[in-house]
Amino acid sequence: MRVFRLLVIALLCLNGSLNAVAQTTTIVAVIGTGDMGDSLGPQLARNGYQVIYGSRDPGRESIKQLLAATPGATATSQRRAAQQGDIVLLAVPWPAMETVAQSLGQLQGKILIDASIPYKMAKDGYLESSVSSSSSELIQAWNNDSHVIKVGFPGSFLIDNPQLMGATPSALIAGDHRTSKERVAKLIDAIGLTPLDAGPLRNARHIESMGLLYMVPLLQGRQQGWEFFVHEHPHWPCTLAGGHLYGANAASPDKADLPGNGKAPVHCTKTR
Ligand SMILES: NC(=O)c1ccc[n+]([C@@H]2O[C@H](COP(=O)([O-])OP(=O)(O)OC[C@H]3O[C@@H](n4cnc5c(N)ncnc54)[C@H](OP(=O)(O)O)[C@@H]3O)[C@@H](O)[C@H]2O)c1
Repeated sequence: MRVFRLLVIALLCLNGSLNAVAQTTTIVAVIGTGDMGDSLGPQLARNGYQVIYGSRDPGRESIKQLLAATPGATATSQRRAAQQGDIVLLAVPWPAMETVAQSLGQLQGKILIDASIPYKMAKDGYLESSVSSSSSELIQAWNNDSHVIKVGFPGSFLIDNPQLMGATPSALIAGDHRTSKERVAKLIDAIGLTPLDAGPLRNARHIESMGLLYMVPLLQGRQQGWEFFVHEHPHWPCTLAGGHLYGANAASPDKADLPGNGKAPVHCTKTR
């Protein structure tokens, strides 16, 4: 009887710890296994997330190699992956997005991360947006009971190696649902990037415009380019101290608590 009781207690403990793991491990469905998917998936898996790849052809050889590089990951169809994910990371090209985003099934309450930049090439060879609002707002309209968060990821080479340029690259995030934005900010922080809150989802269009500008030096055939790094701003606290209109959004309902927001000492000589 005593042995039986001990066995029951041991089973209950095991079940408790399994539940604890299940409750604390966030499942990220990475939809699309291209340049972004095959950088983000391994980084997420190495940093505490459970990854499920969603692919049109999950059995192919390149996906076997990707699974070997992604601890604990599995691969399945795009729809099945999305159904299993707590967070669904849409890493497909914009022209495929409408079909993909509407074929994933019921996504109620899930976080959808939109990494895309919708663009077309203008006659003069520069890029311009191919939508009148933003990819994220369209995805939100197609899945109106999910929480879409725009993320302006840096290039995949910086996701593979965030410290490649000697400083931590940033990822701008925009969204209307604060707690979802905070979960995404945590995810970005976990993979070695600095999240920066760009405000509500409608600001996704500005993030996408920055993506188009980012390409200009490359389109011009230059060897220079720009990356975005977050730093403690030497002047914003002084401007805020001066009053004016600034700080009006400090209590905005979409404003996220970001990991790693420190407070550097400020010495103001000017308050405008
Ligand atoms: N690459 C970057 O550095 C970068 C940086 C910032 C933002 N982005 C954005 O991230 C998104 C993904 O970029 P990427 O460079 O990873 O693109 P990509 O290399 O072309 O790969 C995207 C993946 O999406 C899936 N896919 C492609 N066509 C599809 C279709 N018609 N229907 C369903 N699935 C399809 C494929 O995965 P399966 O074959 O497994 O189905 C493909 O490997 C884009 O929207 C891009 O603008 C990319």
